[in-house]
Amino acid sequence: MIFTEEMLASMKKVEAAREANIALEPRRMTAEEKEKLLADYHPDYKDAGFTTIRIGGNKGQKCPVELNEMLEGRSRVLDMKVDLDKVDYDVDVLVIGGGGAGSSAAIEAHAAGANVMIVTKLRIGDANTMMAEGGIQAADKPGDSPAQHYLDVMGGGHYCNRPELVKKLVSDGPEAIQWLNKLGVEFDKAEDGTMITTHGGGTSRKRMHAAADYSGAEIMRTLRDEVLNRGIPVVDFTAAIELILDENGHAAGAVLLNMETGEVRVARAKCVILATGGAGRMHYQGFPTSNHYGATADGLVLAYRAGAKLLYQDTLQYHPTGVAFPKQIYGALVTEKVRSMGAKLVNSEGEVYVHPLETRDVNAAALIRECSTNGKGVPTPDGGRAVWLDTPMIDMIHGEGTLEKRLPAMLRMYLKFGIDMRKTPILVYPTLHYQNGGIEITVDGQSGVENLFVAGEAVGGIHGRNRLMGNSLLDIIVFGRNAGQQAAKKAKGVTVGKLSLEHVNRYEAELEALGVKDQAPSPKLLPDYTRKF
Ligand code: FUM
Repeated sequence: MIFTEEMLASMKKVEAAREANIALEPRRMTAEEKEKLLADYHPDYKDAGFTTIRIGGNKGQKCPVELNEMLEGRSRVLDMKVDLDKVDYDVDVLVIGGGGAGSSAAIEAHAAGANVMIVTKLRIGDANTMMAEGGIQAADKPGDSPAQHYLDVMGGGHYCNRPELVKKLVSDGPEAIQWLNKLGVEFDKAEDGTMITTHGGGTSRKRMHAAADYSGAEIMRTLRDEVLNRGIPVVDFTAAIELILDENGHAAGAVLLNMETGEVRVARAKCVILATGGAGRMHYQGFPTSNHYGATADGLVLAYRAGAKLLYQDTLQYHPTGVAFPKQIYGALVTEKVRSMGAKLVNSEGEVYVHPLETRDVNAAALIRECSTNGKGVPTPDGGRAVWLDTPMIDMIHGEGTLEKRLPAMLRMYLKFGIDMRKTPILVYPTLHYQNGGIEITVDGQSGVENLFVAGEAVGGIHGRNRLMGNSLLDIIVFGRNAGQQAAKKAKGVTVGKLSLEHVNRYEAELEALGVKDQAPSPKLLPDYTRKF
């Protein structure tokens, strides 16, 4: 028996209430109710998780403790010999990161005639893109429009988004879908060939395009093929551990560390594109994560030391439905698509306590409230609390076989542990999913450092203080392609000056002046899961 007695008792209540719960249309919260809920329960509002930045362009601002430790960490190049006169790779455009944004950037830079190279800490495709499940938004259906999409994005982001970035995101959305379609992404289509689209939390129109529940893997597979087919060089298992500037303070390459051999290499470039992704493996506030193994905020640290500014570094996304049980897959993502197909969130008493498609921050906060103050969480064997996501509702609403057809990967994941989500609900709790903030850019993708471009999850400002489902896969394509095009264009007029790491020495001297001691190596590169006993 995989479920505990307590779980089974609660599950009976869920089953008894299921038909009534399917018919129930939960009320949407008012703006005031949401604000209060977030302030009381969302992890972004927990003071203990944050500190104040003491150095650099964002000095005085709020920052997660774990990220600040990296901003105040010791650059890895300070303890190694780096010979900047010996250049190992010399390219027009250096792309750091082998996920969806980096690959899209490399493809476009290559198409524009640039000599481009990708370096990636793990392998191309080992990225959050690969793990994305639910889909990609784009306003390409009758009755929808980029303007409508714009309003949803701004509302979801609490109107803190950079308007010009949102405008680009939504305006280029339909073309991004066509680009992927032509490259070979197999989106879900109806019999007449039109794309099947669904809702996500906070969307006013059905504009989520998906490939079952492995949308990211399908997109990444296609982008990786395109990179390899074009013959773009990919240097795997090689981390960028510091950006190199030239004598004019412009980005001019990176110091690279071979993760297998420990060898250090120098890459010189006319333009650099940072596409290093997110930060889930920083495990902010001790949360589990849905992110891939390499998501350690490296790009933010490198860009910051080089002089770029961060934006909304204090806002993280906790996806409301991370796996809470069984423990072997604790923190893994249960796609929002499950809720967009009708499954409701239900507490230990079988009560629907929130609208399933409130935005993610609101849903995560409501779930935490249910498990804490309201005392209606289901105990898990490891001492946690969780609520039910009532997945059998999906086949009851849409007909038998729907869950298997539309959520095959999720079904398989649970079946491995003896749980058939078509028949029993599943237990969920928020999991650290996305870095809403990141490096500040202008609409051409450039950071505050000349010739340093940024794309993907490392960017801040597109999603304001809360991203909506499906806008990340869209952003990596739109802003990845944009960065590639802009960097290739810019590179044509760049003459690289003398290479320098002086900015690292200056930054370290400032830390010393602040009295910072016991610095951790920075960037983190990989999480440390060594048992401490
Ligand atoms: O729930 C999901 O499938 C996640 C999608 C996203 O973060 O965009």
